[in-house]
Amino acid sequence: MELLNRKQHRITLHPLGKQLLVNDQTPLIDALHEYGVEFPCGGKGTCGKCRVKLLAGEIEMSEVHRQKLRGLNLEQDWRLACYSRCTSDITLEIGQFDHLILADESDFRFTPSEGFGVAVDVGTTTLVAQLVDLSTGKVLAAETGLNPQVKFGADLISRIQAGVDGHTAEMAGLIRDAVGAMILKMLENHPVKLNRVVLVGNSAMRLFFGGHDVKPLSMYPFHIGHSAIQFYSPDELGWNFRVSEFIGFYPSMGSFVGSDILAGIAATAMHFRDEFTALIDLGTNGEIAIGNRQGIVCASTAAGPAFEGACISMGMRAVTGAISSLRLDNATMHAEVIGNTAPKGICGSALIDAVSILRQTGQIGMFGEILSGAESVPVAGQVILTQKDIYEFQLAKAAIAAGLEILTQNLGIAVGDISKLYIAGGFGNYINIDHLVTTGMTEIDREKIQRMGNTALIGAKMFLFMTPGSVNEILAITRHINLEGHPGFQDIYVEKMIMG
Ligand code: FES
Repeated sequence: MELLNRKQHRITLHPLGKQLLVNDQTPLIDALHEYGVEFPCGGKGTCGKCRVKLLAGEIEMSEVHRQKLRGLNLEQDWRLACYSRCTSDITLEIGQFDHLILADESDFRFTPSEGFGVAVDVGTTTLVAQLVDLSTGKVLAAETGLNPQVKFGADLISRIQAGVDGHTAEMAGLIRDAVGAMILKMLENHPVKLNRVVLVGNSAMRLFFGGHDVKPLSMYPFHIGHSAIQFYSPDELGWNFRVSEFIGFYPSMGSFVGSDILAGIAATAMHFRDEFTALIDLGTNGEIAIGNRQGIVCASTAAGPAFEGACISMGMRAVTGAISSLRLDNATMHAEVIGNTAPKGICGSALIDAVSILRQTGQIGMFGEILSGAESVPVAGQVILTQKDIYEFQLAKAAIAAGLEILTQNLGIAVGDISKLYIAGGFGNYINIDHLVTTGMTEIDREKIQRMGNTALIGAKMFLFMTPGSVNEILAITRHINLEGHPGFQDIYVEKMIMG
């Protein structure tokens, strides 16, 4: 692990008007990912989409960094955020915010229109909003915040329970106020007239935002009504600004498959393609969607909590102090810690790395058992993984692998027929795809897998450019599948527990 240095530097972000204080040597990926900046090639320096323009200050560059910039034909004031660390005060312009970032830009029929819109990803933990110029697709401002409902519990189950216990109105007020305040803050720096606000989120967030009863999500068979976009006026949300066309929270596709996945489908453009595309969101519920222009199937797998740190003894989200990645070097595990600080815990991406490395180095067996017989294995600093943590990981990865198998069966294809698999999720920018494959979470070829960051936010931005009714084209060809209802589910699930 890198030496710790408490010296701090200021990063000023244009055009967001943001100032961040970070520790010396903090990778820019850590500072930027929470504002919705994507790292599509996962920091390999091949896509160039994480480029930032250095407006003031210095970024130390390695020879490899220079070569990558030359290979991408980038002029001298550009840097790749994925290759940069903060070593002095700097001012940056984020290249990506000049236009929408998509997996395959040719597939998005982006029709410029007049005015301005705000896209909001209403996450269980984090809220992200971006103000977009609809005539250019340019992101003018971004705000992030914690979902204030966290006082009712960090995970979805506790939130739903709080709703069932009679706190729905308060929870609606909290989330509406928080999103409204984020939008107002962006409008203070950019006093424009808003035309549209598009909100996406999981099914529980959608119900809470509308002040609806969440009881249907609390007991089997789970279901969610309200299958259309829910429109609101600024007045009923208590928002103190005007929105001339609409404020809409986009619909869920099934009990625990929310509009964040609907937006993810739009972001991957799977509904336009002939070949089969898959999307796995390793956030809250481990949702999966697979399909093409003929039809899409989707499901939630209940795999998410492990990747968000729940049920893992030292698990945490991708925030400062979390080990974000681990690599094996000379038989030693090396940790990268978000914010370049002492490790406090492990986030989902590093959990995948840890299990993969422990398996590769023969410390755990094919059933996930710690072969030394000890109760835990050290990871980095004080951070350890217990036998139970590894078991929780196996449950999560088996849920994803079983979900992929059953959904492809439903489409009448094999897992190998999927031509592209996109991985989304809060820590999607950090995931090591080789490690994902070696754990056996997916049997799809490594070359077909690509990270895609926050697909919910990308899709919400795309919805800003479409008429609200156009999401019906996706909904019309999408079926929600109840995985547990599949007759072979248990057998497939148990089989997928085995480590790759
Ligand atoms: S060049 Fe692709 S993420 Fe940096």
